[in-house]
Amino acid sequence: MPKQETFYITTPIYYPSDNLHIGNAYCSVAADTMARYKKQEGLDVYFVTGTDEHGQKIERKAQEKGVSPIAYVDEIVAGIKGLWKLMDVEYDDFIRTTDQRHVACVQRAFKQLFEQGDIYKGRYEGWYCTPDETFFTELQLVDGKCPDCGRPVEKTSEEAYFLKLSKYQDWLLDYIEKNPKFIQPDSRRNEMVNNFLKPGLNDLCVSRTTIKWGIPVDFDPAHTVYVWVDALTNYISVLGQGSQDDSLYRRYWPADIHLVGKDIIRFHTIIWPILLKALGLPLPKQVFGHGWLVVEGVKMSKSMGNVVDPVSLSNRYGSDAIRYYLMREMTFGTDGQFSYEAMLKRINADLANDLGNLLSRTVAMVEKYFAGSIPSPNTYEDVDKTLIALAEETPKKVARQMAGMQFSVALTELWALIGEANRYIDITAPWVLAKTDEGKQRLQTVLYVLCEVLRHIGVLIAPTMPRTPAKLFAQLGVAEPDLQTLDSLYVFGKIKPGTKVEKGDSLFPRIDVEKELKDVVPEPKDVPAEEPERKAEIAIDDFEKVQLCVARVLEAEKLEKSDKFLKLRLSLGEAEPERTVLSGIAQFYAPGDMVGKQVVLVKNLQPVKIRGVLSEGMILCASDKDDKQLTIVTPEPGAADGDIVR
Ligand code: MSP
Repeated sequence: MPKQETFYITTPIYYPSDNLHIGNAYCSVAADTMARYKKQEGLDVYFVTGTDEHGQKIERKAQEKGVSPIAYVDEIVAGIKGLWKLMDVEYDDFIRTTDQRHVACVQRAFKQLFEQGDIYKGRYEGWYCTPDETFFTELQLVDGKCPDCGRPVEKTSEEAYFLKLSKYQDWLLDYIEKNPKFIQPDSRRNEMVNNFLKPGLNDLCVSRTTIKWGIPVDFDPAHTVYVWVDALTNYISVLGQGSQDDSLYRRYWPADIHLVGKDIIRFHTIIWPILLKALGLPLPKQVFGHGWLVVEGVKMSKSMGNVVDPVSLSNRYGSDAIRYYLMREMTFGTDGQFSYEAMLKRINADLANDLGNLLSRTVAMVEKYFAGSIPSPNTYEDVDKTLIALAEETPKKVARQMAGMQFSVALTELWALIGEANRYIDITAPWVLAKTDEGKQRLQTVLYVLCEVLRHIGVLIAPTMPRTPAKLFAQLGVAEPDLQTLDSLYVFGKIKPGTKVEKGDSLFPRIDVEKELKDVVPEPKDVPAEEPERKAEIAIDDFEKVQLCVARVLEAEKLEKSDKFLKLRLSLGEAEPERTVLSGIAQFYAPGDMVGKQVVLVKNLQPVKIRGVLSEGMILCASDKDDKQLTIVTPEPGAADGDIVR
């Protein structure tokens, strides 16, 4: 028997953080979807994820909490595993960099590289960014801060081991040129070549003496291994490389795909290939750098305060819906916008309407017109043949897109089939056919075709939405595993006439988007701009356009479900009607503090609705740059309500 083709796919190993956000989950869901798809294709798949547990950041956090680093990470790792379970991320192995198997592998590699002269001892003087776990030279700093994240760096000077990156630079450039698929997408490859490789590589400091929470260099235990060398090695340590039982390594290495976010592609396409080359091991076939999930143009991250929690999303809408949204909405490789509104609308349009209704309409018609038994088809007419041809083509189209990691396009192809099946119902009008005997003959064919198309759809959605197919097949009466495989789609017409259908709950209940947005969606936090924007100068007539006046607070209360806003009722003097204004000052003023106060109101600001309340203007406040201190602007005594401010 020929050896089954293997497919080894990895996610990055995650930093143990109390709550991973939906941006982190994106990578794991994509890898899981691909792993499931490759399994459907019949490959021998191995899918690995894990946690990256060493480094100064963890050491400090554990210290703050007064626990040992391992106790600190143990708890978080359990949470991460729980998240993957919730999101149906079904990995074959989970590697922790604190696992003994990993520690031993890293130590072996380090020793080998030292013994063969690729690692040497020197002195390190430079700067270290603790949150990013990265070293920088003086020249690399931007305004004295970390060039990647802009945070402060710490000076370090110590004896250290170095990896000879410079020795392998030309080899790597040549390798990347000869293997253009090694770094994907192409834009990322160009970035690596032009911005990092061509300017030249410095040898890399690969050990520290000041960090204790790391893997000790076994022949010089005052040193611990640099976290990136430690972390990258996970991809082979998890397979038992170099250990007594290296059968998995021999079976699956080299990896087919390392899926990583674009922020860490540099480590995977420069340090990692050089480490492997120096160790005499083959390189992964591909490193694919996906884009970020961004919220209003800013990367979703804890430090930006704009994270979306995958646990609450999955609990509320179901993990299949969230997985679908992630894979459908983001064009793989480029950044994708996360928005609650877009997500809810997509769940309604694509899942509740297009897919859910197609199934419920079809099953309902089989029940109504054929007592719940899928009828036998008669002669296929042109309209049937067109839909059948599309159903036969779709698995091939999906395969082409999946081969290029284009999850979103693959789903678009699949939804084109769903759309056509819905259109087919409108064109063939079963309710009209059902009225005559002759029409009923024709209806047999129409409903048979629809059931079989739905079977195709059930198979093809499975990698992205692992829970939905079982529900769909239960309603269609398809129990045989043989009818749920990708192989079974190459010939149209495998569903058996006479199969009993059974109506069930709707696959995806419709969501009241407006209500949901009001009730559930958190207020967007203010996201700091990347660079302080310099406001353009304005002429005096521009300023004249702004109507400012004195107003008095008559009533004040907290806006429901909001920590930020106070709802103020304002008097603008007797000549003008009262107004309601929402003001983001709730963290600085209690409602009682505001009643009776005079404020300055921007009177002609376009009204906006916030949480269902119309805010007609804005009151002026003075605040520091970070909005940490805030005071309202109030006129000197003597100003009357309604007075113009200019
Ligand atoms: N520990 C390193 C990886 C070592 S791999 C040898 C690390 N961990 S991480 O937890 O910070 O990030 C894990 C993955 O999540 C990375 O691929 C990163 O790009 C990804 N993402 C983090 N924020 C993201 C978004 N907002 N959107 C998409 N992916 C995001 O880096």
